Amino acid sequence: MYLEKKVEVRELLKKYGKSIVLDGLSFEIYKGEIFGLLGPNGAGKSTFISILTTLTKPTSGDIFIDTFSVSKQPDKVKTGIGFVPQDIALYPMLSGLDNLYFWAGIYNLKGQEKRNRVEEALSVVKLEERAKDRVSEYSGGMKRRLNIAVALLHKPDLLVMDEPTAGVDIQSRRYIFEAVGKLKAEGRTVVFTSHYVDEMKAFCDRIAILDKGRLKAIGSVEELKKEYNVDNLEDILLTLHF
Ligand SMILES: Nc1ncnc2c1ncn2[C@@H]1O[C@H](COP(=O)(O)OP(=O)(O)OP(=O)(O)O)[C@@H](O)[C@H]1O
Ligand SMILES: [Mg+2]
Repeated sequence: MYLEKKVEVRELLKKYGKSIVLDGLSFEIYKGEIFGLLGPNGAGKSTFISILTTLTKPTSGDIFIDTFSVSKQPDKVKTGIGFVPQDIALYPMLSGLDNLYFWAGIYNLKGQEKRNRVEEALSVVKLEERAKDRVSEYSGGMKRRLNIAVALLHKPDLLVMDEPTAGVDIQSRRYIFEAVGKLKAEGRTVVFTSHYVDEMKAFCDRIAILDKGRLKAIGSVEELKKEYNVDNLEDILLTLHF
């Protein structure tokens, strides 16, 4: 089967002072796949995501999204990315609805289209009933779901989420992955990080395992199990001496 490249990571290196945080990563993410980044605290996942979403510049190497360089052509790639950061980024004193309208304005959406997109985003994350409540009254999982709704407003081809399910209850998790499934069905690409191996196994087409800034393994769960000759993914993580 021919797989179209959506993201190409080429010899990506990131240093903070003398410490190497990403150590020469090279791999691809295909169009329409759900791609998971797994690794212990400090492995470099958020740093990778920050470079992917143009917020941080690499020390050397680059990432290409649809052939555009994230470091040299950030404006070309930004419009096609929806980003859900590890830390919640919302206005707590505004309602969920008003947060969405605020961001829809930033994305230059107007009139009926703006209203439609806001409603659609609310429904994808199933927050219609709480839309008029202040965000400060939301649970952690609801805030995460609203953050995802914000990232979906401009219908990005690539959704990037940094630990979208951290501290989230089962119901919110299910809504998050239902939303991810919808995006996949529309041919969009989703990249996310998580510490939950079970959800990686259940939802990812392929997984990359990062440790100390290095790519330790990449592939589907079946491929990884075969390569490491183990019965489950958790065993691979243990062989990596995290
Ligand atoms: N702005 C910064 N300045 C200096 N060091 C940084 C900076 N940002 C991250 N680092 C370091 O880079 C390394 C990787 O951090 P990063 O946040 O990418 O890890 P992570 O895999 O996302 O971890 P976690 O699972 O805890 O979220 C860590 O050692 C961290 O201390
Ligand atoms: Mg992180």
